[in-house]
Amino acid sequence: MSGTDTIDILLLGAGGREHAMLRKLAESPRAGKIWAAPGNGGILAEAELANIDQNDPAAVAGFATEHGIGLVVIGPEAPLVSGVADAVRAAGVACFGPSGEAAQMEGSKVFAKEVMERAGVPTARYKSFTESAPAEEYVRELNGPCVVKADGLAAGKGVIVAQTVEEALEGVRECFSGTFGEAGSTVVVEEMLKGPECSLLALTDGTTVIPLASSQDHKRALEGDLGPNTGGMGVYSPVPFVTPEEHEAMVDIERRVVAQLKADGINYSGCLYGGFMLTKDGPKVLEFNARFGDPETQVVLPRMKADLVDVFCRCDNGTLDQADVSWDDDWAVSVVLTSAGYPGSYEKGKEITGIEDAEALEGVTVYHAGTKLEDGKLVTNGGRVLNVTAVADSFEGARELAYKACELIDFEGKTLRHDIGARALRGRDAWEV
Ligand code: AMP
Ligand code: GLY
Repeated sequence: MSGTDTIDILLLGAGGREHAMLRKLAESPRAGKIWAAPGNGGILAEAELANIDQNDPAAVAGFATEHGIGLVVIGPEAPLVSGVADAVRAAGVACFGPSGEAAQMEGSKVFAKEVMERAGVPTARYKSFTESAPAEEYVRELNGPCVVKADGLAAGKGVIVAQTVEEALEGVRECFSGTFGEAGSTVVVEEMLKGPECSLLALTDGTTVIPLASSQDHKRALEGDLGPNTGGMGVYSPVPFVTPEEHEAMVDIERRVVAQLKADGINYSGCLYGGFMLTKDGPKVLEFNARFGDPETQVVLPRMKADLVDVFCRCDNGTLDQADVSWDDDWAVSVVLTSAGYPGSYEKGKEITGIEDAEALEGVTVYHAGTKLEDGKLVTNGGRVLNVTAVADSFEGARELAYKACELIDFEGKTLRHDIGARALRGRDAWEV
């Protein structure tokens, strides 16, 4: 392909997800210069810093036009919800990521529930409240396990999975006390679903929906799926026990949601992330996100055979039906290395060593999350520091390889779960349903 066919790209975000996107975008023959904002130690070693606020629509659109950017790729939810994609498209630049209105699928749980209701999609029964007293009354009425959710974006912290009425009441009060700011001014109380969780990301241009490979995140901080929720401690793909019927049901749900949004006058383009519970009555939606998952992306993209620049442009320009996406037969496992104390408080600035040795193992890629370069040294700069992804021809092989690579990396306070994928290897019976 000639040089004139390449396009310059601006990538927004600072996590392992964006590092995985960067690596895949850079593989494309159509990728020109890649800029990143704000990036991290790994991203900025491979892309040039764009010194702008990723959440400021005018700043992002202005940078894109000034620098002749041909495609803006939005990784996280915050810029989407603040309308960055709208501003970029209004400036005549292609953008991967839904409009602010479409991103309400993630930005408001009530909005998403209402779309699901209209689309006739299975999800947990719920009620929403803007005051504490009626919410508390509903919790007492349910008189058992339930889930309390702040309506808006709360960085993954606004969900309380309550086993008892007391815990649920406490959750309701916490939401309304302002802990989650504006996000908690409306609260959803819903029935508790049981089963294994499964993430199914899909690409869409608003009409065509291309499901990506299934994956399973490990949200809890401690081994055995105990402890507080985190941004994700590890992940694998594909999910071995999903039946073809379940897979088809999840894809059908995503197609119906995209079609419903279109019927409502909203063109959803970008990635629609479906978070599902595989219940004994079939898959039910736990949540939708308006973006790629983190850390799901770190196991999905390495197995994907596609030109990511081409696919992202097609999501934007409505020609996704002509995209070419297929999958390696391999398995991928990614283990998250965190700073001691995460998801609570932790220290930063610890020197990281061993990444090159880990990546020297065939099939291993280390994606950076909370890292930065300081005086020529790579140091920790966040709770989730690195994602160590291994791809191999068996699930067990990928697990072993990922953990072997994790041992080669070191920094003070390095913490990890040793049981990523272990429950799935025991089979579906390892989940209570
Ligand atoms: P969400 O951000 O809505 O996906 O919720 C975060 C996590 O809380 C999910 O990944 C599940 O582990 C759990 N969760 C959310 N909703 C429910 C539900 N209705 N039943 C059981 N667990 C849930
Ligand atoms: N892995 C969970 C998320 O991306 O929201």
